[in-house]
Amino acid sequence: MQVIADPSGFRAAATSAGKPLVLVPTMGALHEGHRALIRKARELAGPGGTVAVSIFVNPIQFDRANDLAAYPKPLEADLVACEAEGADLVFTPEAGAMYHPDRSVTVTESLLSRNLCGATRPGHFDGVCTVVLKLFLLSGADSAVFGEKDFQQLAVIRRMVRDLDVLVEIIGHPTIREDDGLAMSSRNVRLLPEHRADAPRIRRSLIAARDLLGGGERPSAALLAAARAGIEDSPFARIDYLELVDAENLQPVERVERPAVLATAVFYGEVRLIDHITLRP
Ligand code: PAJ
Repeated sequence: MQVIADPSGFRAAATSAGKPLVLVPTMGALHEGHRALIRKARELAGPGGTVAVSIFVNPIQFDRANDLAAYPKPLEADLVACEAEGADLVFTPEAGAMYHPDRSVTVTESLLSRNLCGATRPGHFDGVCTVVLKLFLLSGADSAVFGEKDFQQLAVIRRMVRDLDVLVEIIGHPTIREDDGLAMSSRNVRLLPEHRADAPRIRRSLIAARDLLGGGERPSAALLAAARAGIEDSPFARIDYLELVDAENLQPVERVERPAVLATAVFYGEVRLIDHITLRP
């Protein structure tokens, strides 16, 4: 496994590496969710292909300075995980090598990224699109694996690739969860013990809304109210957003008549967790 920090060095190594090249973009602090993505990439690349993992805490997608500063960076452990899951190339650039001080081009997706995380995290998806496109161009990836946990991010990236004719196949991977249902996240390690113990209610509350739909309740207001009650019952949780949107275009719906997504972001102290559940009528 080669670890490369220099963008032009990474480009050279990726260009001469075996094809297909499958990229797994990450911000590090790798957990079982990321590892599942790397394993999937290994399977897709096959024995002669290349698995490239990028580890880059992308400053331009953070809307809160303290969140960026507090983001964990256990590089040594991450490299061990990459090696164990069969990565061939690991790209670990510094921010200064990725962004010119006077950079002036940004990739903006202007529909799917408007609500949900886009509404409460201004500029976030511009930062994501810009770095992901740069990573695609530097790696020359044939395909790239993304987690469904960040379902809005996945939808926005699929749209960017479609609208800009980017020749990278986007592969989605199901969300990996802790035994108690909490979606794995690099931010979970920052939760206070009492917050960590409380956080599985997020998933339970989304499931309660899905069960209500299963019982025939289709209006969004009732489903949202059920999920909201479950989360707000917590002495710690503070809802950032809770929305029910169409699964295709991510716009709010009044009733569940087609596949929809119930999505939430919840603060525990300074730590913001996201989760969602797909609702099918
Ligand atoms: P990061 O949060 O490190 O996530 C990297 C990839 O792992 C993303 O595709 C994310 O959806 C996936 N992932 C995270 N937790 C997961 C889980 N519990 N189950 C399955 N997949 C999971 O997402 C980013 O980084 C960044 O925005 C990035 C795309 C790298 C651009 O900077």
